[in-house]
Amino acid sequence: MKLLILNGPNLNLLGKREPTIYGNTSFEEYFDQLTSKYPDVDMVYKQSNHEGTLVDIIHEYGFDYDGIVLNAGAYTHTSVAIADAIAGVETPVIEVHISNVHAREAFRHTSYMAKNCVGTIAGLGLKGYELAAQFFLEQ
Ligand code: DQA
Repeated sequence: MKLLILNGPNLNLLGKREPTIYGNTSFEEYFDQLTSKYPDVDMVYKQSNHEGTLVDIIHEYGFDYDGIVLNAGAYTHTSVAIADAIAGVETPVIEVHISNVHAREAFRHTSYMAKNCVGTIAGLGLKGYELAAQFFLEQ
């Protein structure tokens, strides 16, 4: 089982960025815990602040990985290019948000990703990434 976890802009600052919304744990720290919990899963973590790079990474992994767990950050609410990349590859994608985007500003209520994803998890903190991975593991 090969899974890609892909984070978009500003998520490299997790642990430092608005901790009341996103918590105090860096993604690297969380990813270490996650990989040690699932030693048999080939899990790769990538992050980029750039829309085109995120598209390139989806193309790169989207034909031979079993699942992509994607938090596109703010691009969730704006990016036709990332939505098209998800539609264009074979690997299923689950959309994850750390915060409950529906309880925040109105512009965060719209996801360009959602219709091309298997499903969405929002508001469950970092745990959302593990829940998405578990879904793929049970397929
Ligand atoms: C986010 C929610 C987005 O609205 C925001 O722009 C982010 C993080 C989340 O994980 O809660 O960067 O995707």
